[in-house]
Amino acid sequence: MTTVLTDPAAFRAACDEARRAGHRVGVVPTMGALHEGHLALVDEARRRAGFVVVTVFVNPLQFGPHEDFGRYPRTLEADVEGCRARGVDVVFAPPVDAMVPPGFTTSVEVTEITDPLEGAFRPGHFRGVTTIVAKLFNLVGPSVAVFGRKDLQQVMVITRMTEELGFPVEVVAHPTVRERDGLALSSRNRYLSADDRVRGLAIAQGLSAAHDAYVAGERGADALEALARAPIEAQFDAVDYVSVVDLHTLRPPAQADATLAVVVAARVGTTRLIDNLVLGRDTRPLA
Ligand code: PAF
Repeated sequence: MTTVLTDPAAFRAACDEARRAGHRVGVVPTMGALHEGHLALVDEARRRAGFVVVTVFVNPLQFGPHEDFGRYPRTLEADVEGCRARGVDVVFAPPVDAMVPPGFTTSVEVTEITDPLEGAFRPGHFRGVTTIVAKLFNLVGPSVAVFGRKDLQQVMVITRMTEELGFPVEVVAHPTVRERDGLALSSRNRYLSADDRVRGLAIAQGLSAAHDAYVAGERGADALEALARAPIEAQFDAVDYVSVVDLHTLRPPAQADATLAVVVAARVGTTRLIDNLVLGRDTRPLA
């Protein structure tokens, strides 16, 4: 049975009770508008924990003043149905004031790794993410927390925060789930018009081109980046970045043996999509 809770104290009590009953607690923090990608995170949490909670909170702290906080999809009823079908124990869906009351002044901030990529294009975004994830960790007391690797930098930032603040939480990064045609699942895909949806596939094409060249032996970051960039520049209205970076620093690779990731953020129509591929590890996005 899935219980829906909105009150932080009741949610904390449910998690405390599960731990007292001997369960490991697993949390999947989300902003709702759940899709199969989120539900794959739930399944992963279920493999690792006896009591699984999903948080649904559109976090105002992580949106910039001109971003899509107001129009971000809110689909709680469908989210609860999806969670119920996957055997989630508790869905926690607090009102904004319960998490960020008026006059809220505290923030949790990871520096350096938050500077490039999303950090450069969305100032303050990661501070908002880590502040709310830290608060959720304090409420839940999880043994494990599962995040999607589509938000590659986010999961790295949260891992760093968890280690440095000593949260006794295993942070799991789950591989990106894609549509059959390669589009990475995202709550924001529902903003795409039919035409944007087709043009959006250019990301999977670019990542696949870099993947193929890497498999064929190409190791030059510039060459791999050019291959990834070409189809995206041809189809998207604005490209924030297409970069090949060292997976561990998210900066241009400084060592020849660095594990390389292709990271992308670009706008099609009014929708900003992000995606990434770890070369030599992830499968080709296009079947
Ligand atoms: O990835 C998300 O949905 C959000 O950034 C998160 C981790 C739930 C924090 O608000």
